[in-house]
Amino acid sequence: MMPSQKSLPALPALCALFLAIAPLLPTSAPANAAAAEKYVFSAGHPSLREFVLPPQSPHPADNAPTADRIALGSRLFFDPRLSGDGNMSCASCHNPALGWSDGLPTGRGSKSMVLGRASPTVFNVGYNSIQMWDGRKRTLEDQAMGPMEASVEMNMDTKRLFAWLNASEGYRTLFAKAYPGEAIDERTLSKALAAYQRTIVSNTSPFDRWLKGDARAMGERQVNGFRLFAGKANCVACHSGPNFTDNGFHNVGLAAFGKPEPDLGRYAQRPLALMKGAFKTPTVREAARTAPYFHDGSARTLMEVIEHYVTGGVVRTNLSPSMKALELSATEKEDLVLFMQALSSPFMRVEVPELPRD
Ligand code: HEC
Ligand code: HEC
Repeated sequence: MMPSQKSLPALPALCALFLAIAPLLPTSAPANAAAAEKYVFSAGHPSLREFVLPPQSPHPADNAPTADRIALGSRLFFDPRLSGDGNMSCASCHNPALGWSDGLPTGRGSKSMVLGRASPTVFNVGYNSIQMWDGRKRTLEDQAMGPMEASVEMNMDTKRLFAWLNASEGYRTLFAKAYPGEAIDERTLSKALAAYQRTIVSNTSPFDRWLKGDARAMGERQVNGFRLFAGKANCVACHSGPNFTDNGFHNVGLAAFGKPEPDLGRYAQRPLALMKGAFKTPTVREAARTAPYFHDGSARTLMEVIEHYVTGGVVRTNLSPSMKALELSATEKEDLVLFMQALSSPFMRVEVPELPRD
C-alpha cells in the first residue's frame, strides 16, 4: 500500500471543515466594497439575477404540490380542532392578517402560555433549506407535527387526533383525494401541511417588479436602500440570495444574550462555541408586516433593527465576525427601511377554507 494513501481520507475531512467554517470567516471592508461593485443597481440588470426568487419552491419527490394536497393542507392549517383545547390552529400564530405571524414579541401557546421565541412568518418557508430559529428541523414535513405535539403550543394528544381524523367523513374524503391509498397518519398530515405552506409565497413586491425591469416599481431612495443593504451596510453578508437568508446561524449581539442563562439558540443543536447565541437568519421579505423583530421580539420597528446593526452588536461575546459597527446617516437609515418596505407584496387575499363539519 502506498504510504500517501493513509493521509487521503483526511483531505475530504479538511475540505468539509473548511466548507463548514467558510461562511463564518469575517467579511473585510474591501470585500464589502467588492460586493457593492458586483452589482449594477438599475432595474432588471443581469448582475442582480441572484435575487430573483424562483416561481416555485423546491419540494420532496414524494410530495408534489397537487391541488388536492393544497386543499387538504389549507383546511388542516386553519383547523383549531388540531389542538388539545380545540381553540388553536397553525393560523393562530401564523396569521395571514398579520403577515403570517402573530404580531407578538414571542408566541402565545396553549392556555396563553408565553413562549420563549417569536413566531416567524411562514411566508416563503418553502424556500428555507432549514427550519426553526435553531434549525432543529430540516424540512416542512419534519416540522409539521411539532406544534401539535408540544404541550406549550397546540398540546394535542396525537392518538386522539388521528382517531378523530380517521372518523371524519369530510377529512377521509380529502385525504383519499390527496394521498390515495395512504393512511391518515403523521406522514400524510405533515405532507399536506407542507404542501399548503409551499404556496405561501411572497414574490410580487415592488422589489420583485423592479428586479424584472420595471424601473418605476421602486423609488430612488428604495434603490439606494438596496445599494446600502448589498454594500456599505453589509446586510447581504447574511441576508443573501432571493429569500434574503443564507440559511445560516449567527449571533448578532442582541442584549438578551448578556442576561443570565440566555437562549443559546443553534448551540443546543450543534454544540460548537461559535453557535452560542446564534439564530437562523430570517428572511426580510414582508418584514414590514411582521413586527416585532428578532427571535425575542426585542425590536419594535424596522428602524430599531437598523439602530441595532449600527451599534455593531450590543453584547459582543461570541459575536458573528460579520457584525461591524456601521456609519450611516439618518437618511441612509431611512433608505434601508424604505428598501425593506419595498419587499412587501400587495396584500394577498387568502381564502379561509370551510372546514369539514364532522
Ligand atoms: C403557539 C403558536 C404557534 C402555533 C400554534 C404554531 N406555530 Fe409554528 N412556530 C411558532 C414559533 C414560536 C416558532 C419558532 C420556534 C423556534 O424556532 O424555536 C414556529 C416555527 C414554525 C416554522 C419554521 C419557520 C422558519 O422560518 O424556520 C414553521 C414552518 C411553522 N412554525 C409552521 C407551523 C405549522 C404548520 C403549525 C400548525 C401545525 C404551527 N406552526 C403552529 C409558533 C407557533
Ligand atoms: C451576521 C449576519 C447578519 C448581518 C450582517 C445582518 N443580519 Fe439581520 N439578522 C441576522 C440574524 C441571525 C437575525 C436573527 C437574530 C436573532 O433573532 O437572534 C437577523 C434578523 C434581522 C431582522 C429581523 C427579522 C425578523 O423577522 O425578526 C431584520 C429586519 C434584519 N435582520 C435586517 C438586517 C439589515 C437591514 C441588516 C444590515 C444593516 C442586517 N440584517 C445585517 C443576521 C444578520
